[in-house]
Amino acid sequence: MDTEYVIGLLKHDMMAEHQAIIQYLAHAYAMGEGEIACEIEAISRDEMRHLEWLAETIVELGGDPTMERLPVDFSSAPPADQLHKDIDLEQMAINDYRAHIQAIDDPKIQRLLRRILHDELRHQDEFRGLAEEAAKGEGMTAVPEGEQDQPIPPEPTAPPRLASILNEGVRHEYTVILQYLFHYFVAEGKELSEEMREASINEMQHMGWLSEELSGRGGRPDMNHEEPVLTRDMIKALQANIAVEESVTGSYTDHLPEIEDPDLRLLLSRIRDHEMYHSAVFRDLLEEVKQESGAAPASGQAAKPIEKRPSTIPSVGSLKSQDR
Ligand SMILES: [Fe+2]
Ligand SMILES: [Fe+2]
Ligand SMILES: [Fe+2]
Repeated sequence: MDTEYVIGLLKHDMMAEHQAIIQYLAHAYAMGEGEIACEIEAISRDEMRHLEWLAETIVELGGDPTMERLPVDFSSAPPADQLHKDIDLEQMAINDYRAHIQAIDDPKIQRLLRRILHDELRHQDEFRGLAEEAAKGEGMTAVPEGEQDQPIPPEPTAPPRLASILNEGVRHEYTVILQYLFHYFVAEGKELSEEMREASINEMQHMGWLSEELSGRGGRPDMNHEEPVLTRDMIKALQANIAVEESVTGSYTDHLPEIEDPDLRLLLSRIRDHEMYHSAVFRDLLEEVKQESGAAPASGQAAKPIEKRPSTIPSVGSLKSQDR
């Protein structure tokens, strides 16, 4: 079987998982803090695991994982209607995985896709249950009982300047999530790869916090991203990561005096401090990778694994801690 063909199918699956993650998060954030939103976020975390497994498989086959996504429907609708869109998206995933299990003759990849297919079937059932709950007005805190049929206001009500600051953060965090995930997927050294994974999970936490703060104020997170730096050259990767961390540390610092809400200011300064921590970690890693590659007899040789350093960030975020 043509490996490029298999990689192409798996890349399509990655793009569909990416689309699902963002669609589900957008729906959860818009619904507020109720039980349904928590369930949707849990399903989104399953899709993140799928994305990770597909990327690992593509790398094993010698390909580059894709960080692109299929187009996301960001339109507003009452919660029950949004959940029906999620049921439909799961159906598309189910159809694709069934077709790809037939099309790919590698038993190990078939086994993985079957495992993912089982999850998608379960998700679809869960979304059906949630849609019924939402239609009855259960499981929601953001929409008062009896008002579920009212359309969600299309225009944000958060102060425009605050929404702009928070959305700049959301777009930045989304960009570095993709950038660090890619570096995690392709890094040769296990420890370097793990550091990139930790950083990407921490950035997912930031994106979630900022999106929830904005949604809670009637705004809509702008879940689009800038161009991530995707390279297999770990020196270039770490240099780009340091540059983006230093730039965003400056932005968060500049915006802090404008934030009036003390809790939000605290949150932003906490995120800013995490970014400074990331810069420091990346600078250490860059030195180590440079030393390792300098010690290598021939250029182009893979860097040796980097020693694991203890993380000073105690939690890698709700996205990881709520794993089921
Ligand atoms: Fe999935
Ligand atoms: Fe799913
Ligand atoms: Fe961040």
